[in-house]
Amino acid sequence: MSLYRLDKYLADAGIGTRKEVKHYIKKGGIRVNDTIVCKSDLKINPETDIIYYGNQKICLPAFEYYILNKPAGYVSATKDNTAPTVLSLIDSRRKDLFPVGRLDKDTEGLLLITNNGELAHRLLSPKHHVNKIYYAIIEGIVDETDITAFQKGLEIGDEDLKTALPAELKLYQKPDFSKNLSYIEVTVQEGKFHQIKRMFQAVGKKVVYLRRIHFGSLSLPDDLLPGDYRKLTDEELKSLWEYS
Ligand code: URA
Repeated sequence: MSLYRLDKYLADAGIGTRKEVKHYIKKGGIRVNDTIVCKSDLKINPETDIIYYGNQKICLPAFEYYILNKPAGYVSATKDNTAPTVLSLIDSRRKDLFPVGRLDKDTEGLLLITNNGELAHRLLSPKHHVNKIYYAIIEGIVDETDITAFQKGLEIGDEDLKTALPAELKLYQKPDFSKNLSYIEVTVQEGKFHQIKRMFQAVGKKVVYLRRIHFGSLSLPDDLLPGDYRKLTDEELKSLWEYS
C-alpha cells in the first residue's frame, strides 16, 4: 500500500502548488478524516483516509492508468518548451502523471500514461523483455536480407546505443515498387533512442511513418483515434502486471 505525503497528495490532486497547499495546511484548511492537520509531511493512505479541503472531499485514486493514441507533434515528456506534451492531451487534475517510455515527436500510437512508478519501471526494464510492436512505412524495398539482419541484431550506432537485440521484422503487405515503399511490422524488446529509425538506417533505409501498435499485453484499440485516450480496463491492467 502506497502512503503519500499530505502536501504532495493535495498538489497532485490539483488543489494548488506544493507551496500553496503547505500554506493551506498551516492555516488549518485541511482535514484528514475528522482531524484538522497542520503537518505537511503527514503520511496518508489515499485508500482509507478521507481528505477534505474546506468542505470539499478530495478523491484522488492512488494510481491512474491511461492508454493514449499519441498523435504526431506531441512530445513524450512531462514538460517541454518547444512543443505540447502528451500530458496536455489528458484531462486530469492530478499532477504526477507521466508517459511510460518515449515515442518520438513524429511517432504515433500506443503510449501508456500513469503515475505508478513501479509498473513503469517493470515495463521499461530491459530485464523484463517487454515486447513493443511497431507498424512502419519504409522508404526502400524491405526483403529477406533485412529480415535476417534484424534477426541477427544490428549495429545501430555510437556510444550507448551499439548493438540492437534481435528483432522480428515482417512484411505487413506487399511493397509498393512504383512508390519504392514497404509496409512492415517490427517487434523489439528494447526502447533505445530512435531505435526503429536507427535499425532501418543500419540497413540503408528510411522510416517515413511510425506507429506503435502493441506494448506488452496492450494493443492499440482500432477505435482510439490519434489524440484519443481512455482509462485502462481492470483486465488490461491485470494482464499488464502479469506480463511485466
Ligand atoms: N523507435 C523510433 O525510432 N522512434 C520511436 O518513437 C519509437 C521507436
